[in-house]
Amino acid sequence: MTSNAATLPYDQRPPNQRLGHIKGHDGLPMLGRTIDMVRDPSALFGEYFHRFGKISRVSITGFRTVLLNHPDYAEVVLLDHDKNFSCKMGWKSHMGEFFDGGLVMRDFGEHRSHRRIATESFRREAMLEYASQVQAVTEKTVARWGATRDIVIYDEIKKLLLDIAFNVFCWLDESDKAEIPNINRAFADMMEGSVGYVRFNIPGLAYHRGLKGRAYLKRFFLDRIDRKRASDDRDSFAAFCRATDENGQPYSDEDIANHMVFLMLAAHDTTASAATMAAYYLAQNQDIQDELRADLDETERPIAYDTMFRTLPLMAGVFHETIRLHPPVAMLLRRTVDACEIDGVAIPADTMVCVPVAFLQRHPDFWSEPDRFDPHRFDEDRLEHRKHPFMWLPFGGGPHKCIGLHFARLLFTSLYAELLSEYRIEFAKPGYYPTGLQHLPFAKPKDGLPVRLVPR
Ligand code: HEM
Repeated sequence: MTSNAATLPYDQRPPNQRLGHIKGHDGLPMLGRTIDMVRDPSALFGEYFHRFGKISRVSITGFRTVLLNHPDYAEVVLLDHDKNFSCKMGWKSHMGEFFDGGLVMRDFGEHRSHRRIATESFRREAMLEYASQVQAVTEKTVARWGATRDIVIYDEIKKLLLDIAFNVFCWLDESDKAEIPNINRAFADMMEGSVGYVRFNIPGLAYHRGLKGRAYLKRFFLDRIDRKRASDDRDSFAAFCRATDENGQPYSDEDIANHMVFLMLAAHDTTASAATMAAYYLAQNQDIQDELRADLDETERPIAYDTMFRTLPLMAGVFHETIRLHPPVAMLLRRTVDACEIDGVAIPADTMVCVPVAFLQRHPDFWSEPDRFDPHRFDEDRLEHRKHPFMWLPFGGGPHKCIGLHFARLLFTSLYAELLSEYRIEFAKPGYYPTGLQHLPFAKPKDGLPVRLVPR
């Protein structure tokens, strides 16, 4: 252990950068391989796997990081039986200013206590209530899209999901609703700022706009806490406002506002990416659309929440395959608390480690034709993703596993049930090919994917 490690708590120690004993390549001074990672994380992680094997060293966003290119290592790090992999210190290096105070920025006992409050919003009874709200809002919105015919689907899905997130997690007064476009912009600025290469808080830079966006969102929630506390609302915002910790103390206004910013971000941005990428594959694979439509025609309405994926297995396959190829969270970051060993390789204390989800989900030793869109690989008679419990991990695993995964599934199924029952999704221009794919912070075609909705 270093002298720092002996005197300071783990979350105040500087990161360990001494990883010369691990094979790898740092890349450019300062930037390392950050630009390549933002361009295409799966390609970068794959390059390291082929050049250096299962464990290597890479430098990203200024931190030397151990890249763990095997599902066995993902299992060790994410399950974290020895409480040695700090989620907070992992994300802090890349997203600290933006995720501040959110659940991923808390570790161990403190995390457990905060997660308990958040979990309340995802109990089965709550989910059943959300299901009817989600289906009602989706039905109305899809009818509006259909009347327009040509839409930029990412922009529309993002607005719809933010609208739904407010409907279920943060009920607004009529007077607040005018703020929604600003809120949408602030979330977009925040996420664009989070991948800015130049991290100086200087006007004109994406990073600066991102910080401003976050400050706006935090203020939005702070300004409404007193009113929410006094209300008898049953949304997540009210639950955080009324909750107490193990000692009976209420959460601070800061904590509440930070949780809400993170929750609302997680609730719409991740699923907007998944649903947009699915539209891309569906427009390319009309035969899959036909199969889905045939399933939907035989499904009773409203679709029962509890059995959604069982009654619509191909819908589940499309969702799972899309987030295999384009995981909305492309990598999971942690930092060691104490020195440890992974598969015989010594990892010092305070070292950044990366679980490269985007590569593990295309790992050539585990997946057949890894780059091909094949939703049937999740069919009952194939279950390709079950070869290893951590080869398909779009929702992470262990104590920080996504709290909203059932909600994401509900959003996805409700949206595509509505869309495909009424319309065929085509590219707006014949022969369209996305001019470019953005991979981080979330995957989406750069042009937002213009599509045409053709009535059946
Ligand atoms: C396709 C959609 C989604 C994907 C792929 C996804 C992915 C993830 C992943 C990988 C993590 C773990 C991060 C880590 O371990 O470092 C996570 C955590 C989280 N997700 Fe999701 N998510 C999705 C949708 C949602 C939705 C809809 C919500 C809320 C309604 C949500 C709320 C959260 C929260 C609060 C956490 C933090 C959990 C904790 O730290 O204990 N997510 N998500």
